[in-house]
Amino acid sequence: MLEAIILAAGKGTRMKSSLPKVMHPIAGKPLLQHVLDSASELSPEKIHLVLGHGAEVIQAHVQQAAVEVTLQEQQLGTGHAVLQVLPKLGQDSIVLVLYGDVPLIRGETLKRLAAMATPQSLGLLTVRLSDPTGYGRILRDASGEVMAIVEQKDATTEQLAITEVNTGFMAVHSSVLRRCLPQLSNNNAQGEYYLTDLIALARAEGVAIAAAATPFTYEVQGINNRQQQAQLERQYQILLANRLMDTGLTLFDPARFDCRGELNAGSDCVVDVNCVFEGRVTLGNNVHIEPNCFIRNAVIADGTHILANTVIDDADIGPDCHIGPFARIRPGSQFARGARVGNFVETKKASIGEGSKINHLSYVGDAELGADVNIGAGTITCNYDGVNKHKTRIHDQVFVGSNTALVAPVEIGAGATIAAGSTITQNVQAQQLGVARERQRNIDGWHRPKK
Ligand code: UD1
Ligand code: MG
Repeated sequence: MLEAIILAAGKGTRMKSSLPKVMHPIAGKPLLQHVLDSASELSPEKIHLVLGHGAEVIQAHVQQAAVEVTLQEQQLGTGHAVLQVLPKLGQDSIVLVLYGDVPLIRGETLKRLAAMATPQSLGLLTVRLSDPTGYGRILRDASGEVMAIVEQKDATTEQLAITEVNTGFMAVHSSVLRRCLPQLSNNNAQGEYYLTDLIALARAEGVAIAAAATPFTYEVQGINNRQQQAQLERQYQILLANRLMDTGLTLFDPARFDCRGELNAGSDCVVDVNCVFEGRVTLGNNVHIEPNCFIRNAVIADGTHILANTVIDDADIGPDCHIGPFARIRPGSQFARGARVGNFVETKKASIGEGSKINHLSYVGDAELGADVNIGAGTITCNYDGVNKHKTRIHDQVFVGSNTALVAPVEIGAGATIAAGSTITQNVQAQQLGVARERQRNIDGWHRPKK
């Protein structure tokens, strides 16, 4: 049976935040959730989460059936943290030790590590770093076997020169933990119970130490401050950008690409610089997205062109549409094939029929538009009376002149025309002209006031 222990009781002082460190995000997702997701790839029987600082806040966010929280009231060291879970571990379990603030560990690496643990052998993940400062150093004997780990603060000058370091990740059989953990002492430079001392203790008990190295330093990098958070965020985005480019997506600059969720793209899509994707975004084929767009939870179908500086949130955009520049497409917007929405247009809970156009400066909310409707510049659906929202229905081939207020609830029949500058408060039947404005008067011989 496989169990995982995620250590996350530390305070994260250097983040200088009221939010517990492991709740800070990478790609919009808490660090801890990244770790939980990686661990879940191995379908462990149980995931033990060791919490201390900010336990309540963290617990509220963890809604995973397999997760069991263990409180570590005082943070007396990583060994002490694992000791708190010891009574809960199975008799015959492989136990993976993970860290809540090391988010990019890959499930694949964890699988490799877990496979190395038996009652007679312990799996340890190491990495070579050009600058090993701060990390525990891996001590090997003459035959190259791992003997022990020595922490930075306890190391001799000679040991400090070692560049192979402890990542902290290990896989160990529960029987080994049971025999060795109670032997830990805090007689060291930091006065802590080091989990790392387990290595020498296990060796002394006849357990072999199997070390595996990862070439990917990012997956063992921890986050202690905002700089490291930002570096790992960029690292994550570059990896994701590369994966997407492998599937055929064009990114004009992968260094200026952000996805905080899941982006799926069909063939020959193009994403220009500084676009941010959130939640679940699906692009069809030949979708072109110009610079500086923010797109969250949206489906954008084949051949649609999103022009610069457009915001799309919770919307379903059909094929061959033209949206933007500077459009704001709000939740519940649904566009049929070939719809066009131009600059400074806001839509909300609006379905826009095939080939319909709202090219400039309009607000269309709680509205249903048929096909081939033309909405002139400055048209407003007045959907809100201060208490309730009302609907505007506009049938096929309606032409709405510029600067029109449509006071909902109101319905405009197919083929009707609305004169520019109208305030429409009553329904207009099919093919009618609706005019609702003062008739123009021209006054002869008008004398302008003089100074
Ligand atoms: C640890 C390792 C070090 C390794 C490094 C890799 C030990 C003694 N040292 O050092 O060899 O190179 O990680 O990043 O293990 N935690 C608790 N309870 C505690 C103490 C820590 O839950 O009482 C948690 C922390 O929240 C953190 C993790 O354990 O997530 C690691 O603790 P930290 O103090 O950062 O250990 P390091 O000094 O970095
Ligand atoms: Mg650390």
